[in-house]
Amino acid sequence: MTKLYPAWLSDAVFYQIYPPSFYDSNGDGIGDIKGIIARLDYLQWLGVNAIWLNPCFASPFRDGGYDISDYYRVAPRYGTNVDLRRLFRAAERRGIRVILDLVPGHTSVDHPWFRQSCRAQRNKYTDRYIWTDQGMDFRRHDLRTVNGYAERDGSYVTNFFWSQPALNYGFAKPTQLWQLPVTHPACQATRRELMKIMRYWLDAGAAGFRVDMASSIVKNDPGHRQTIAWWREVRAMLDAKYPQAMLISEWSNPAAALRAGFHSDFLLPWENPCHKLLLGARGPGGASDQPAGFLDRRGRGDITAFLDVYLDCLRQCRGRGFMSLMTGNHDLVRLRQGRTMAELEVIFAVLLTLPGIPFIYYGDEIGMKHLDLPNKEGGYFRTGARTPMQWDGSRNAGFSTAPKGKLYLPVDPAKNHPTVAGQQENSNSLLQHVRDLIALRRKHPALSGEGEFAPIYARKQACPFVYLRRKGRERFLVAINPANKPARARFDAKLLQSGKPLAPKKILVATGDQISIDMGPVSYAIMDLTDSTAGR
Ligand code: NOJ
Ligand code: CA
Repeated sequence: MTKLYPAWLSDAVFYQIYPPSFYDSNGDGIGDIKGIIARLDYLQWLGVNAIWLNPCFASPFRDGGYDISDYYRVAPRYGTNVDLRRLFRAAERRGIRVILDLVPGHTSVDHPWFRQSCRAQRNKYTDRYIWTDQGMDFRRHDLRTVNGYAERDGSYVTNFFWSQPALNYGFAKPTQLWQLPVTHPACQATRRELMKIMRYWLDAGAAGFRVDMASSIVKNDPGHRQTIAWWREVRAMLDAKYPQAMLISEWSNPAAALRAGFHSDFLLPWENPCHKLLLGARGPGGASDQPAGFLDRRGRGDITAFLDVYLDCLRQCRGRGFMSLMTGNHDLVRLRQGRTMAELEVIFAVLLTLPGIPFIYYGDEIGMKHLDLPNKEGGYFRTGARTPMQWDGSRNAGFSTAPKGKLYLPVDPAKNHPTVAGQQENSNSLLQHVRDLIALRRKHPALSGEGEFAPIYARKQACPFVYLRRKGRERFLVAINPANKPARARFDAKLLQSGKPLAPKKILVATGDQISIDMGPVSYAIMDLTDSTAGR
């Protein structure tokens, strides 16, 4: 039987790095691969065992590097392919795997394939992208097109910005002559190229890929059937040749994504309600005027609404793979927006004790703020979540020795902005607590990706939320009160079976067959209920 997923995923905790903003090793103002290598000791100290790197390939950076002009070359501003290989090895020596960002759906308009594809004369790349049959194409299509760009008489289909033409994997149900079927040799050639790109980086030492817009590969594809079939081919290739490699999708439909062969799927706020119901909406416009999730001090969210969807997704993942919630990413308003450090800590406690594979966005572990910044490289509102990592109290928060004006993005100007060094010195800092939570998760299978999850106390529009994690003999009870007022849970002791609460003892009081948990405002407790005498 093929393995469901590589063993290392069961206790994986990922750290996401936006390359230009992590650490600048050569003082040119922009983060780079050598800079990431220089900070691996920090990540090892933090306790994560995997990194996701946002795209680090050659690009004109009209969309932060999601507009690739050469899949086989590290962007010169970040270093060289040799540097990236070195990163893979240096990380591996510290027990950390590195996955890359795969952008299969589109390239930059500057990619040589696209330049060829624009030409009037037919050539090898004519059908590498999706083109309509008119340059002056003002008809209505379901797909977005850019008109009047090329010599050839056609308009190209885009996946995101105008500068990201869609690669041609064909249409499941073509309705126009210019829509090629998936079996067309040009569409098959696109697939072969993608496989080649993946193999190149896996051979170089990458541990897998986070796949951009994974659901939008084949167009007009009801139920994503052809898209799923394609990813299954990719997965079969991985299982055969790179059984340790992982694939995680930007899909937000775990049932479909896991059927397609992904080991995990991101639950993003705009596609799947889970993220919003837990953490609130985090799109353009800032956090304050957006709907609150359950993890909000105003106590406006409803954990039962979250559980309705989450438990259903979890059921669909069982026996197949995982789902991934994240503290943030390069597309979201930072978690810190509108929240205190204490509130952040409660959120980390939840994300690091839920099943699945959690992702920490760089800087969230110290509570970096979302800055109000003008657009940079197609970031728009997202730019504020991409500012330089704050390492210490030295110049530019230790990110770079470049003059301030040459930095990729400005450092948070607040005098008391959080830093890694500052929080390492303080045993009660967010960073130290995050580190403890990661260690706890990685030490105990019950808390890891595959441990069972059972809500114990969850009431409509009320706090706290109490759940059990269990695997083998291990049992942990987690209680969460995000609201800024005290909260009490009372439930039947039978729900927990026997077991002795360890820490913190005060919080869990058993009287007869009832258990009550009293919690202070904005607080959490993780209680080890493993009966240490059982099974001996
Ligand atoms: C999702 C990526 O996360 C985002 O940053 C990018 O702009 C789009 N996909 C287009 O590739
Ligand atoms: Ca640099």
